[in-house]
Amino acid sequence: MPDSQHEKRFQERIDAEQKVEPRDWMPDDYRKMLVRQISQHAHSEVVGMLPEGNWITRAPSLHRKTILLAKVQDEAGHGLYLYSAAETLGISREEMIDQLLEGRAKYSSIFNYPTLTWADMGAIGWLVDGAAIINQVMLTRTSYGPYSRAMVRICKEESFHQRQGYQILMTLSKGTPEQKAMAQDALDRWWWPALMMFGPSDKDSVHSVQSMKWKIKRQGNDELRQTFIDRTVPQAEFIGLKVPDPDLKWNEKTQHYDFGKIDWEEFRNVIKGNGPCNRERLAARRKAHEDGAWVRAAALAHAEKQAKKKAA
Ligand code: 3HC
Repeated sequence: MPDSQHEKRFQERIDAEQKVEPRDWMPDDYRKMLVRQISQHAHSEVVGMLPEGNWITRAPSLHRKTILLAKVQDEAGHGLYLYSAAETLGISREEMIDQLLEGRAKYSSIFNYPTLTWADMGAIGWLVDGAAIINQVMLTRTSYGPYSRAMVRICKEESFHQRQGYQILMTLSKGTPEQKAMAQDALDRWWWPALMMFGPSDKDSVHSVQSMKWKIKRQGNDELRQTFIDRTVPQAEFIGLKVPDPDLKWNEKTQHYDFGKIDWEEFRNVIKGNGPCNRERLAARRKAHEDGAWVRAAALAHAEKQAKKKAA
């Protein structure tokens, strides 16, 4: 069958809400777009462990430490699900890791900011995982089967991440004036980078039109960002924190919050590698990869030995 026939039939399947599975025919560009997005999503999960890992040894109580440990371990698992989902498209784990370590693949801009106080653990859970949930709930309906199924499992764990973060800030906002100020400072530093997580405005998005046609994305970047703002502002008010946007105002007519301009120059700079922590994050990933080389070698040697034993 000529490719044009395949493409027509493929789009009919997408339009009929049929999931695409690894062995199905798919356009090369569909496969490429998924490998790009899923592998970068996986990189984001793994790099995202670093800012929070920074506070595991400094958590204010054993209770908080165990919660943070559980969350960071969850993120590692999310990364593994997503690398496995990407592998079903024909790319190897090694190739994806090489792309990240050589700076040829992106990860979410949000993880290039420093975590300066314990309140940042609250802001990350509440805002970063809160934003991730809105994006990832949408992705549970993505057209590629393995990706949508990975999202279902991940979203269940994200809800715990978001709640524990919000609870940290709720506790601090009810604490001493210094604790409340620490919570407000974290919101001030994480609010705008969290809005940037959803990607550029739809009009500047290079992938959105095609991604929506293939139902990889089901909603545009701007719509998801607006949903996040509409949901999160009342939560900030409930714990007595002020969103750092002087232009934020409820619009009775649209039933949404109007909000100020996002600094896209900052966004472009961060994804170009000039964010506050880009170099530190990649250096940490490269060191972990080097330090783990002996583990990979031992596991491979053991697997080969087992395979030889089985074959004999
Ligand atoms: N950080 C880094 N790069 C970003 C970005 C961000 N926040 N937003 C967009 N970009 C990049 C895109 O990757 C693309 O570059 P590329 O062609 O080199 O890949 C370029 O900017 C243009 O953006 P588009 O909007 O056209 O790209 P997409 O259609 O891919 O949309 C996206 C961007 C919405 C981030 C989409 O890729 C997506 O939904 N990805 C899956 C979700 C994800 O990766 N979330 C990251 C956070 S994971 C997380 O927070 C885990 C939590 O548990 C802590």
